[in-house]
Amino acid sequence: MKKFLIVGNWKMNLNVHEASVLVKRLDDNIKIQRNVEIVLAPNLLVLQPLSREIDKRKFKLAAQNAYFVDEGAYTGEVSFTMLRHIVEYCLVGHSERRIYFNESLEVVRDKVAAAIRNDIKPILCVGETAQERKDNETKRVLHDQVTTALANLTAEEIDKVVIAYEPVWAISTFGGNRPAKPEEIKSSIDWIRSILADLYGYGASKDQTVIYGASVEPEFVSSILSLEGVNGLLPGAASLNYSMFTKIIEAAAKVKA
Ligand code: PGA
Repeated sequence: MKKFLIVGNWKMNLNVHEASVLVKRLDDNIKIQRNVEIVLAPNLLVLQPLSREIDKRKFKLAAQNAYFVDEGAYTGEVSFTMLRHIVEYCLVGHSERRIYFNESLEVVRDKVAAAIRNDIKPILCVGETAQERKDNETKRVLHDQVTTALANLTAEEIDKVVIAYEPVWAISTFGGNRPAKPEEIKSSIDWIRSILADLYGYGASKDQTVIYGASVEPEFVSSILSLEGVNGLLPGAASLNYSMFTKIIEAAAKVKA
């Protein structure tokens, strides 16, 4: 059975102590669900202590970012090699990184490749801005982001990539206050799968894990996860609240994967 993948993106919030408090609350409230894989994405500093604290049958860890060179004179950076054995996943190309830190399509591509090289599954975030949607550029933007990011991977490596469709305009950071409509989510995710089918064939595209993120809250979970081809969720703000995150997991557990 394919599990839903629910990834809580904590962004730049919670110090070591606060993160540990949140994880204890989540652990007390969340039961292991057969059809849901839960991933927590805290900041880099918190990852190592948290990796010793979490119940690994219940929670996996993701980094939010890492650098694409494995080692060397890159002051201030942390590499995927250093995250090996601490995290199972890493977000790559989140819109906040593309927009605030000028991460180009090529940087995202190199980070995806570095993650794979280091046995970490990249969660490749793609999505159009409000302006791009208005200009009817959504398909082109998604096409450019997906094809460039995967350019250096073989068909077998693609299997390990999770793609997260995150329409920038719906993310709380950029003023979004509710998710994209189900039909908007479905049409972009269908488009992403058709790009994958062109690149790697229909079988690969069908099996790819594709999730949705942007303003996910418990009340929207069942309508989004019931859409064919949506394999999980990437909540940001809601994942910092143990009660909301617990409700998201419980709602996902009720949907047939
Ligand atoms: P949000 O963030 O749920 O707060 O909109 C999602 C994300 O940026 O990954």
